[in-house]
Amino acid sequence: MRLQGKCALITGAARGIGFEFARAYIAEGAQVTLADINGEAVAQAAASLGPQAHAVQMDVTDQASIDAGFAQAIGAMGKLDILVNNAALFTAAPIAEITRADYDRIFAVNVSGTLFCLQAAARHMIARGEGGRIINMASQAGRRGESLVGVYCASKAAVISLTQSAGVNLIPHRINVNAIAPGVVDGEHWDHVDSLFARYEGRAPGEKKRIVGAAVPYGRMGTAADLTGMAIFLATDEADYICAQTFGVDGGNWMA
Ligand SMILES: NC(=O)c1ccc[n+]([C@@H]2O[C@H](COP(=O)([O-])OP(=O)(O)OC[C@H]3O[C@@H](n4cnc5c(N)ncnc54)[C@H](O)[C@@H]3O)[C@@H](O)[C@H]2O)c1
Repeated sequence: MRLQGKCALITGAARGIGFEFARAYIAEGAQVTLADINGEAVAQAAASLGPQAHAVQMDVTDQASIDAGFAQAIGAMGKLDILVNNAALFTAAPIAEITRADYDRIFAVNVSGTLFCLQAAARHMIARGEGGRIINMASQAGRRGESLVGVYCASKAAVISLTQSAGVNLIPHRINVNAIAPGVVDGEHWDHVDSLFARYEGRAPGEKKRIVGAAVPYGRMGTAADLTGMAIFLATDEADYICAQTFGVDGGNWMA
């Protein structure tokens, strides 16, 4: 039980990687508030994890919703030790077809959402004076541009940059800010990615997934469970001297 007595909030936790992190943190003894814009789905997700799980409906693009969601989570758990900034959206389009509305939508969730949830957690942690852990979900897409993925790549590069700035700004308070950069992780997120590549590259459904999976040096796409080891480690005291870093968990796709 490496997270016994710890209290965590995970955004975008109704499904996918965030939900798997919630399950893993609870298995390590933590209480977890699962937060998601989809209130019904997150309530069901939390109910499936038992009494250590709490649910809040929260839209990370809306400051009033962030404030209310953090207050509800801290009220339910008593404190907040760990934040995982996991909520994000994906989009793809050739540069000539990117719309301002799509750019605004992606940056509002992936960048503003990450920053202002991080800020809400940091304010609570600074006031408490007992440090904390903040883990941002970046991506291999934040390490370099991709032909059809300009907006999402830029948003994840921003997450890596915010991790560096917040990491050095908050470490004097013993708040460790780090990021995880997954590669290609199978699930509903990648079903959506696959459908966009089918449209823009004229591929059959499922073809892009097969191609990216075969290209991973490990030999397959990742699963959400492949990421939990890093998510737990970064939340433990063992990671006390680590801050402002982004760690690839990607089967060897990217060598940082
Ligand atoms: N799946 C991958 O291949 C992959 C690769 C690299 C990075 N990532 C990153 O990992 C994280 C999780 O990915 P996933 O595959 O589980 O995604 P997902 O699409 O399955 O889940 C994202 C969750 O975020 C929620 N969400 C969306 N907008 C929100 C908002 N405004 N407020 C609150 N919640 C909101 C959704 O309802 C959903 O439950 C994301 O940050 C993603 O960019 C994923």
